[in-house]
Amino acid sequence: MDDFHYEGGGLRCEGVPLSEIAAAAGTPTYVYSHAALERAYTELDSAFSGLDHLVCYAVKANGNLAVLRALAALGAGADIVSGGELYRVMRAGFDPKKVVFAGVGKTEQELMSGLGERILLFNVESASELEHLDRLCARFGKRARVALRVNPDVDAGTHDHVATGRGRDKFGIPVDEALALAERVEDYRCVDLIGIHQHIGSQITKLTPYTESVERSAGLVAELETRGFDIRYFNIGGGLGIPYKDEETPTPKELVDAIRPMLEATGTKILCEMGRYIAGGAGVLMTSVIYRKKSGEKSFIVADAGMNDLLRPSLYDAHHEVLSVDEDGSVANADLVGPVCESGDYLARDRELPDASEGDVLAIMDAGAYGFSMASNYNSRPRPGEVMVKGDSWAVVREREHSAELVKGELVPAFL
Ligand code: LLP
Repeated sequence: MDDFHYEGGGLRCEGVPLSEIAAAAGTPTYVYSHAALERAYTELDSAFSGLDHLVCYAVKANGNLAVLRALAALGAGADIVSGGELYRVMRAGFDPKKVVFAGVGKTEQELMSGLGERILLFNVESASELEHLDRLCARFGKRARVALRVNPDVDAGTHDHVATGRGRDKFGIPVDEALALAERVEDYRCVDLIGIHQHIGSQITKLTPYTESVERSAGLVAELETRGFDIRYFNIGGGLGIPYKDEETPTPKELVDAIRPMLEATGTKILCEMGRYIAGGAGVLMTSVIYRKKSGEKSFIVADAGMNDLLRPSLYDAHHEVLSVDEDGSVANADLVGPVCESGDYLARDRELPDASEGDVLAIMDAGAYGFSMASNYNSRPRPGEVMVKGDSWAVVREREHSAELVKGELVPAFL
């Protein structure tokens, strides 16, 4: 059964009517399905069966502690990109031996935190970063396990903002330069080069970008091994897309089967770092209709959630299905917009949407990844609450912010 489905006249998350959550917790509120998280994680994990592997969860997709705890309990590793994400995964109970740290701009403090927790791997993205890490290790008597993040120069065929593996993108090290850097690695006395990492982009809906990039990166692994390096980890990155509308996306099994011979040939432990695939379909954003409004030919549904709560439609023109929480088949051509003072503040534009009345609750689907994690306080709007459902139970896993939190840390100096 779908984790979000209509039953008894209303939309449910697992066994819980969303109307019940909306009435008790208010809107806007994100609702996550534990069953959906578990299903997606397990599907990924079993796709790699037969290979020594670890599925890491890309925390940036959704870093709520309850989401993290659920995935840690399933045995997942974590892919982090900041000291803040390291703090979250440690709080949530992840084993630091399953944590990999990527990002082009890790600060000294962030590198130190990773060293302090003895994480599995630093995915190093430049010669400068390697040098910096080595110097820190030498100064504090530590050793760092390192994977070089290569830029395989492959177009993932996705939105320009989230393609990361083309030569012109800021991420990673070109394959030939990675080889040259590896040859000099003995100059860095406190780092152990034991991995190769790639991540070519997000919401990838085709297999070819994976097969092409893995071929190049796995070729580098082979070359390094020929030259005597002991490469133990090969991280294929994340990026597997999900169907937001009617996209045909490869399953994890189709992905792994397409690259399995190349993965096997490396003889390494295979890592992946999926965010969206695990969390995307596991969450919805519930929002209430405040007003209906007509302006000439246009019809607007004005909701209490806006671009500050879910940025994806405004930023990427992303499509999210919109369902009525109360089962009601009537539709209207309208824009679903938020209260934020920008014309770019919309959740759906020129679409057949539920013909909702004021007070009705709508569910914006597939909002579990890059939903709350990209939310902001723009227009001084408190960020929404978050709820987790498991079977017939539900709990608030993040309280809705209140006004006092909006000014936390702000100070008015005496000279004013
Ligand atoms: N690993 C690295 C190094 C990444 O930069 C990312 C995502 C991932 C893994 C996870 O990718 P995923 O499996 O979730 O596609 N805000 C955008 C997505 C940005 C993705 C950034 N990096 C969106 O809402 O579509």
